[in-house]
Amino acid sequence: MPPDDIFARVGPIKNTANTHIVSHAGHLLALMEGLGPIEVADDLTTSGPFDFDGRLAGSMTAHPKTDPVTGEMVFFGYSPVAPYLRVHSSDRSGELTWSTVVELPGPVMMHDFVVTESRVVIFDLPAVFDLHALLRGETAIFWDPARGARVGVLDRGAPGSSVRWIDVDPFWVFHFFNAHDEPDGSIAVTGCRAERLNTTFDGSELTDGYRPSVWRWTIGAEATSFGATQLDDAPTDFPRIDERRTGLDNRIGYSGHAARWSGDEVVFDGVKRYDLRTGSSEYRRFGANVTCGETVFAPDPDDPAEGSGWLLSFVHDHDADESMVAVLDAPTLEPVATVHLPRRVPFGFHGSYVAASAS
Ligand SMILES: [Fe+2]
Repeated sequence: MPPDDIFARVGPIKNTANTHIVSHAGHLLALMEGLGPIEVADDLTTSGPFDFDGRLAGSMTAHPKTDPVTGEMVFFGYSPVAPYLRVHSSDRSGELTWSTVVELPGPVMMHDFVVTESRVVIFDLPAVFDLHALLRGETAIFWDPARGARVGVLDRGAPGSSVRWIDVDPFWVFHFFNAHDEPDGSIAVTGCRAERLNTTFDGSELTDGYRPSVWRWTIGAEATSFGATQLDDAPTDFPRIDERRTGLDNRIGYSGHAARWSGDEVVFDGVKRYDLRTGSSEYRRFGANVTCGETVFAPDPDDPAEGSGWLLSFVHDHDADESMVAVLDAPTLEPVATVHLPRRVPFGFHGSYVAASAS
């Protein structure tokens, strides 16, 4: 079925712009992965769609990666209709300088990816689309391990046809911490891995629930091998890093400390700080009957050392029915400030710290 027919039958898709917000080239971009970015002003009023001067074709992931050295923002967009995947880069001025189609055997939902100084790593995992369900307005993504899974390595700036694929056993990742080039040419990746997507579209129940945990992968030079190591078996997700280390070797990762993780019900009540080389972790809970969303790292502009800065989280005190922004000292996880908010703030998904001079 031609793409135009699909969209004509599904009807207009609302751009919820609710998944993440990032700053790039002086623009604040609110993101949802099904469509393109929506630019918002500094006062968060909506400016409108942002399409890189008409050059962006297709959608944009909510998890772009900004190279801290070059200022380039590298991202992808997936689609339930061909072409199923495009990869892009925008330079520090906001000009789209690289757009290429990467061929996939079929449409898949792809939430996140990683970049290094030299390469992009694509995870073609079997969260497949059912277009007939999409047309009926039903849940259209389901887990199909029989389809197989692949990891692709593409040099930044290269044509998508040069991607090198490795077949791997199926697994699922919503979010990665980071990746970097090793001196021997291999790529190290860290993220939160689960056995499968948390969908029951096919009618099967998740016998062990959905429990992502921290893993490290090593992709051999020339994409010839793929190794996986679990660093910790505690369930966690919403990984973040000091983004001054995006694409570079880093040691520290932050994620949600789970108060409860039962089936698909997840409640975070604090922040974990991982040593991504050893898998050891520390955590700070925000208090009894207090829950939180994702934590966001705010770097100390006077100290470039990894992890020097603060952690910001929206928290909700259920007893007082009060929302706050909690500020922790990132090296010690000690609380340093609390911003009391006049009304309840939903946790939502992701956010960014943007210095006043950057937007
Ligand atoms: Fe996400």
